[in-house]
Amino acid sequence: MLKSVNPESFISKLIYGENLAALKTLLADYGLRGKVALVYIDPPFATNGEFKISKDRANTVSMSNSGDIAYSDTLVGCGFLEFLRVRLILLRELMSEKSSIYLHIDNKIGHYVKIIMDEIFGRNNFRNDITRVKCNPKNFDRRAYGNIKDMILFYSKSQDPVWNNQEVPFSEDGVQRLFKKIDNNGRRYTTVPLHAPGETVNGKTGQEWRGMKPPKGRHWRCSPEVLDALDKDGLVEWSTNGVPRKKIFADERKGKKMQDIWDFKDPQYPSYPTEKNLDMLKFIIQTSSNEGDLVLDCFCGSGTTLLAAEELSRRWIGIDSSEHAIRVVRKRLAEISTGLCCEVEYDLIAF
Ligand SMILES: C[S@@+](CC[C@H](N)C(=O)[O-])C[C@H]1O[C@@H](n2cnc3c(N)ncnc32)[C@H](O)[C@@H]1O
Repeated sequence: MLKSVNPESFISKLIYGENLAALKTLLADYGLRGKVALVYIDPPFATNGEFKISKDRANTVSMSNSGDIAYSDTLVGCGFLEFLRVRLILLRELMSEKSSIYLHIDNKIGHYVKIIMDEIFGRNNFRNDITRVKCNPKNFDRRAYGNIKDMILFYSKSQDPVWNNQEVPFSEDGVQRLFKKIDNNGRRYTTVPLHAPGETVNGKTGQEWRGMKPPKGRHWRCSPEVLDALDKDGLVEWSTNGVPRKKIFADERKGKKMQDIWDFKDPQYPSYPTEKNLDMLKFIIQTSSNEGDLVLDCFCGSGTTLLAAEELSRRWIGIDSSEHAIRVVRKRLAEISTGLCCEVEYDLIAF
């Protein structure tokens, strides 16, 4: 039987068993209500197939002929949606006020799942429906376009979730496209307007600067004194007809904001069927949690979430009902122990 634990001295947990019972135990016996900072789940997608694994390889598509069944994905329709719904309700109970949940699903069933997420987490707390490019283009025989994407539904528990904004680096191509101009020192730059939408009636940013009012319906981005300082520093470019714009240099920008189309392809030679991209999990964990936080994945499969959390100094709980999944997680955790120069510490619990 599981004992109560102090969340502050919490040791990460790998739980082998059915996640409904495990989630109830985490709530009732572990005192973890409101303690989870981030949930990522990648449940079965109601494909009505079986995913197999053999000694040397895992199959990425269901219904392959060889190997043992790693997990069955045979619950479909309303039964599948209800299966998810009851687990999502428990997950919400475990989540802290500043937490987020990312639910990975495909586009066949994902729109129905979104309605359930809206019901449980609230439409206000919907943040993104992320399109994830999962593989290279395919040549299907089917009379349809190639399917290279799935979706991640991202919700927060409240309006104030943890958010560590991460910029993504510009590609070489992107730098040339976005920063087309080159100054006398060979630096690439672009220009943006010095004014922004919205009129200021009495404020400084609505006043004249160098004999010019901001255009109708707009205000200067900064006060006339700051505009003077920018101009003095050579950061304002004047067009031939006297319109000022602010210079933005490529070498001063770390990158651009991540958008809602992600390119994180899954491993070509996975250790487990439907294993997800480790860098994608690291990106999610870094953005939506802080060091020391508790990350939960109750469909953990090969443990990609757990590895990412461990490498980023978060505590974690992984749950899976497949013995193959648990074996692969343990192997992967043992492998990263070498890189981290110490044994990964966790409790292994069987229900
Ligand atoms: C799509 S896989 C997860 C893959 C994982 N994201 C990875 O990177 O390896 C779904 C996992 O959910 C597990 N699973 C399905 N139903 C479960 C349940 N009721 N309780 C616990 N695990 C379950 C399966 O055994 C399977 O390993």
